[in-house]
This record gives sequence, structure tokens and C-alpha cells, in this order.
Amino acid sequence: MKTLCILGRQSEISLAELESLYGGDAVTKLNSEVALLSCTPDFSRLGGTQKIAQLFTVIPQKNWNEIERYLVNTLPTQLADMPDRKIHLGFSVYGMHLSLKQLQKTALTAKKALRSTGRSVRVVPNKHLALSSAQVFHNHFTDENGAEIIICKGADNQLYIGKTTAVQDIDAYTARDQQRPKRDAKVGMLPPKLAQTIVNLAVGQLALTDDEATAITVLDPFCGTGVIAQETVLMNYAAYGSDIEQRMIDYTEANLAWLTKAFSLENPHYFTTVADATTHTWGIDFTTIAGEAYLGRPFATTPDQTTLKKVMQDVDTITSKFLKNVTRQTKPDFRLCIAVPAWHVNNAVHHLKTLASLEKLGYTRQSFVHAKTEDLIYRREGQIVARELLVLTRT
Ligand SMILES: C[S@@+](CC[C@H](N)C(=O)[O-])C[C@H]1O[C@@H](n2cnc3c(N)ncnc32)[C@H](O)[C@@H]1O
Repeated sequence: MKTLCILGRQSEISLAELESLYGGDAVTKLNSEVALLSCTPDFSRLGGTQKIAQLFTVIPQKNWNEIERYLVNTLPTQLADMPDRKIHLGFSVYGMHLSLKQLQKTALTAKKALRSTGRSVRVVPNKHLALSSAQVFHNHFTDENGAEIIICKGADNQLYIGKTTAVQDIDAYTARDQQRPKRDAKVGMLPPKLAQTIVNLAVGQLALTDDEATAITVLDPFCGTGVIAQETVLMNYAAYGSDIEQRMIDYTEANLAWLTKAFSLENPHYFTTVADATTHTWGIDFTTIAGEAYLGRPFATTPDQTTLKKVMQDVDTITSKFLKNVTRQTKPDFRLCIAVPAWHVNNAVHHLKTLASLEKLGYTRQSFVHAKTEDLIYRREGQIVARELLVLTRT
């Protein structure tokens, strides 16, 4: 079944995640916000896709009046199987220029058409051309009686029309982030969605079934408060967290114990140890490494050149020593994903120097068909220390 994937704010990262899991051929980028996937993904594991829709049809591009006529004629049949209660209807448009007024008019015309078939309908008004994940989630559009219709114009000038089947569970992400007992602003707050993406980029196509998942162990050698370990366990993989600080190991343990209870997990596989990632021999057969390495000092304001240089050097030393240590303990083709800092200072991006010597260290950087590696930098507006996602394979 083909699926429309509505990508996250940083769509390049979302595309790389889809490509990692399902392969470049399975993904078609339709526009900057939407991709078409040739299968149905396991949505709850995706960090970078906001919502997915089952593709109903693909038609040649038309003017909006014709599209409206098409929708009004086809929706009563397409939604005919919905239980005989009130339908919650909404529309989201991607990749097209259209006024909100035109879209509201279409929504009301569609409502009338459905009503004339005896259905009771409520239309959720648009504040923007696309409904937000929060609107979709809180209006229960993915329940039996919800219908968010996606209309997306592709770069091929075709119109892709579908109905949303799943949306990110905003409340569950917030709980995983904010309700855990141990947090620490100093080591940074890795959003759980990004942690999922990092794990997916690391695991790649190794585990597409539940059975395959249970055989996978994901090591986070800089586990901090354990966000990656939490998401790893929720994805049914075994998590191994290590950190140079005992306090961080205590935090990870406390957070994983909380997660087990809060999410009623049966027998989650996780273990932790205090370890310096630049020298430690982990001594277990880990399948991959997914983590957020040491990011250096957080900066709330622009640092001066000397301070920045010193921080960059420190991080460089730890990162390159860590990569050398991993080379010693892994075989060729071993794949990992690690987030490292990239500093945004005065409109310039300063990359970690280690990136220039990856080959010498024994790694190649994974390239993607649908995303440029230099765009895999996760950054909130105004942030100085961004996270550059490195997907590496051992040579
Ligand atoms: C950016 S934080 C990771 C935060 C983590 N993702 C979380 O969920 O909280 C980096 C972590 O690396 C740890 N660290 C720094 N140098 C290290 C080293 N040489 N070996 C292992 N851990 C180290 C720090 O103690 C810190 O917890």
C-alpha cells in the first residue's frame, strides 16, 4: 500500500530516516513537505514523519475548481464505509498556492455533498493550508469517524490525494520528554523524536520485523540521561548505555525504570555501565551505535573566537579518539549514527574538524539519494550549538 509521508520541520532529516529504513528506491520526494513511500511504515517508530496518509488516487494537476468538483464527487464513495456516526472532516493542502478562503469553501461544499447522502458532518476549520499534527491529533482525525483529506501537488505535476491514517502522538512524546524523573539541561535535552531518528539512521534496514528487532543491541556510549536508551527500548531493541559520569548512569537507570512502569513494558532489555568512550572496551556484541556525543559547552550567546576554538578542539579530541576506539572493536561495514556539534556563529556553520579526517579514521560517511549529508543538521531557530547527524560505515 502506498503511503504519503508528511515530513517534519527539517525534511532532509526525515527523508534520510525513511531512506535508511526502507531504501532509496522506496521513497519518492513529492515536494519539500511530502514524500511517497512504496509501503506502509511502522509509523510509531518514525521520529521524522509527522503524519501518514493512505494514498487514494493520483490525478493530473487541475485548477482548484476542478479539484473541488473531483473531491465533491468522489468523497461520498471514498468515505462510504465509515461508521454511521458524525464524520469529522478536515483538509490539508501541500505544495499548492491557494487561499484559505478557497479551501474553506471547498470544505463546506464537500460537507454539503456528504450531508446530501444522509451523513452528519463536522468540518474542522483551517488556520493554515495544512492542519497541524496537534489539530489532527486532538480532533481525532485518525479515529474511525475522522477524515483528514490530504491533497498534495508533486514535482511531477500530479496530484496525490489520500486520507490520514496516523499522526504523531504528541502527548506521548511530551510525557517521554518531560515526565521522566531525571533531566539535566546541562547535558542538553535531546527530543525523543530526534532520538528515534538517530536510532533508525543507525539500525538502517537491519530490523524490519519484530523478530529481527529483538536480536539488535544499540549502544549509546554517551548516554547522559538516557533518551536514546529510552527510545531504543520502546523500539523493542536491547539498549546498552555508557557514560563517563556515574551520575548520568544513575539518571539513565532511573529514567528507564520509570519508562518500564509508565509504558507497562514487559521485560525491557537494557544495561548500563560507567565508561570512557575514548578508551573503554564494551566487551559485548553490539549491533550498532546510536548516540549524541559530547557537544561541548552550551552557548546561549555568541562565543568569542578563542572560546569557540578551545571548545571545538576539546570536542574534536574526544570525537576522534572515540571513533578510533570503535574501529578497534568493530568489523568492516559496521554502521553507526552519532550526533556531533556544528556551531552556528555569525551566519557561518563551523563543523567539527574530525569530519575532514573520517577516511583516515577508517569510516565513510553514508550518502543518501534524497538528502544531502550537509543538510542533516538538526537545529532550532537561534540555536548556536546544532546537532550534525553523522551516519558512518566502517571501511
Ligand atoms: C550531549 S550529552 C548526551 C545527552 C544524552 N543524549 C541524554 O539523553 O541526556 C553527552 C554525554 O557525554 C558524556 N561524556 C563526555 N565525555 C565522555 C567520554 N569521554 N566518554 C563517555 N561519555 C562522555 C557526558 O557526561 C554527557 O552525559
